[in-house]
Amino acid sequence: MKNRVLGEGDLDSRVVFVGEAPGRREDESGRPFVGSAGKLLDKILAKAGLSRGGVFISNVMMCRPPGNRRPRREEVEACSVHLERLLAIIEPRVVAPMGNSSVDYVFGRFGIERGVIGDVHGKAVSMKAPWGDVLIFPLYHPAAAIYNRELLGELEADMVELAGLLR
Ligand code: URA
Repeated sequence: MKNRVLGEGDLDSRVVFVGEAPGRREDESGRPFVGSAGKLLDKILAKAGLSRGGVFISNVMMCRPPGNRRPRREEVEACSVHLERLLAIIEPRVVAPMGNSSVDYVFGRFGIERGVIGDVHGKAVSMKAPWGDVLIFPLYHPAAAIYNRELLGELEADMVELAGLLR
């Protein structure tokens, strides 16, 4: 592990995207979503009329797990103080967890009944946060859409809908 990756973007953003954990490229650069999943995310954002610089992107885990394995629930809990502080600073209108690890944490944190991403993606859940009303809007993880055109189409359509919620 070389760098902690806290996230980056616009602190005034109305949306925070939450991925899983840094991969090798993110670990090396200290920036979230700069590898192949990140390049795809940039394209999907642009197609929906959003720019990477105008949103905020983070992860449930701030450090790359050994061997690039999925983060364990206790590791996500241990890192959650960082994500929680970011959310409290940004006070987003929409929180968009991407993929199952992130959906697990965000749903648990807001007291939403757990669901798998295939069922819950693209459906906004309205919740109360300490800073006001917030919409939880789950998305497929971009890495899952790299080699799966069907998921890519769903992710693109969900992103367009999400962009509509920010207007
Ligand atoms: N995948 C993630 O979940 N997060 C990153 O930052 C990069 C790839």
